Amino acid sequence: MAEKQSGLTAIAMAYSRAYHATHEPHKIFDDFLADALFTPEERAQTNRDWANMLQYVAPELAATNPDPMTALAWVVQLTNGPITLPRSRYAEDGLEMAIREGVRQYIILGSGLDTFAYRRPDLSDRLQIFELDHPATQAMKQERVARAGWEHPSNLHDVPVDFTKESLSSALKRSPYDPTQLSFFSWLGVSYYLPREVVFDTLREMSSNTAQGSLIVLDYLDADAFVPEKVSKRVQQMQWMAAQLGEPMKAGFDPSTLPADLEKIGVRLEENLAPTDIEARYFHGRSDRYHAVEHFHYAKAVVF
Ligand SMILES: C[S@@+](CC[C@H](N)C(=O)[O-])C[C@H]1O[C@@H](n2cnc3c(N)ncnc32)[C@H](O)[C@@H]1O
Repeated sequence: MAEKQSGLTAIAMAYSRAYHATHEPHKIFDDFLADALFTPEERAQTNRDWANMLQYVAPELAATNPDPMTALAWVVQLTNGPITLPRSRYAEDGLEMAIREGVRQYIILGSGLDTFAYRRPDLSDRLQIFELDHPATQAMKQERVARAGWEHPSNLHDVPVDFTKESLSSALKRSPYDPTQLSFFSWLGVSYYLPREVVFDTLREMSSNTAQGSLIVLDYLDADAFVPEKVSKRVQQMQWMAAQLGEPMKAGFDPSTLPADLEKIGVRLEENLAPTDIEARYFHGRSDRYHAVEHFHYAKAVVF
């Protein structure tokens, strides 16, 4: 990530969650605090910019001349919404189950504008939360949190880190993280921005710095997403957009060989959801334009 970009993709994800929470009645994921992280001016500007994007995202829909609010809704539903909403729901549902089974630490890698710690004060005496992100993104989030007037939860630990310069274990050592405790790692929206070896190195660091039985949830792109003849049009557009924002996508994985690759580093895959599974679980029966995004998979793995 370029130093000055301050997590523009994280802002886009949070804006989609905010839009969904405030405008759409049938919730996939209810990030009811996200909207407060944006100023009225930023909302108005983003709404205009995203509505205008319809002509690039879906020219055939733009040709029907929808009003700007409809165009905005369609852009959210066709692009960032179906990326961020189901994966955040997947991670937080998994976390909820894990807490019941004794997990006491929640480590969010590439946390962006995550609001979990602020949404769940009820967990403050049971769960230590660690947000790890690039220093520029964390500074940008802290400015927004201060502007919203939120108090920093006592169980939230901010750990600024640039993963291209420092390892996960070294970063966690600067925090009260306890490697002997059962933990839940969430790594959403990051794996495809890193070189393949950095993804495996980071997963290995998770598995070797935590208690057996700890869980890891991540989303990843399949290898076809990087093959020009195979990638879907919408994912190709997303890759182009991410590159324009200074965060080019780099790595994809083969869902069929991932279990064996993970076993080698002490991690057993418990769930490996393909886009068809994600469609059935989170989008079935909706009458809007939300559908699972091609090439995006979710993995849940246990450290052994
Ligand atoms: C697409 S955003 C995802 C944010 C959040 N997980 C979500 O789902 O909304 C990617 C995140 O990875 C972070 N990131 C990218 N490169 C990084 C690096 N080298 N070190 C630490 N964090 C990085 C960005 O700052 C950003 O917050």
